[in-house]
Amino acid sequence: MQTRRDFMLLAGSLLAAPLARAQNVGAPKLDVPYVPTPPEVVRVMLDMGGVTGRDMVYDLGCGDGRIVITAAKERGARGVGIDIDPQRIDEANRNAREARVADRVQFRVGDLFASNFAEATVVTLYLLPQINQRLRPQLWRQLAVGARVVSHEFDMGDMWPADRIENVEGRRLLAWTIKPEHKRA
Ligand SMILES: C[S@@+](CC[C@H](N)C(=O)[O-])C[C@H]1O[C@@H](n2cnc3c(N)ncnc32)[C@H](O)[C@@H]1O
Repeated sequence: MQTRRDFMLLAGSLLAAPLARAQNVGAPKLDVPYVPTPPEVVRVMLDMGGVTGRDMVYDLGCGDGRIVITAAKERGARGVGIDIDPQRIDEANRNAREARVADRVQFRVGDLFASNFAEATVVTLYLLPQINQRLRPQLWRQLAVGARVVSHEFDMGDMWPADRIENVEGRRLLAWTIKPEHKRA
């Protein structure tokens, strides 16, 4: 049976919830705000990554999961999306079920800088210049030779010039391949 103290605690947390939301208390700290990639740009990113049914696609900062879901639905790939915002991951899981690819994709709440994406054959990014540059050593360390990285809009700085750049719908898309020298660096 609930005690009066239990009741007061529960009532207190119910009253506090709207206030906490209004003050953004407990909201994840985003390194990059949520801005989705348009569907036609997603398809060109997958083309630039050469995504096929043999690939494992990771989207670091996956938003509503559209890149990984399109890779699974249209290319037969498997994929994983990681986002620090649990609300985005809820949306991504819902979208995967609606697209009937939930058996081929996984979405995880997490910080991309604390993630292991070594199994990826293709990594997609829509982050920011300084976040890409901070991520570069992790990409070189974790990914296997031959893995591809595709970024919407932002480069990796002078340390890693892109192998290929395309302009689509006024957006810049950049692609890199992991080479043996990156593993030795
Ligand atoms: C510009 S959006 C890109 C969304 C998706 N990749 C796309 O292209 O449609 C960036 C995403 O990164 C997520 N994000 C920001 N900081 C992050 C971090 N440290 N770890 C994981 N995700 C992060 C945001 O929540 C947001 O959904």
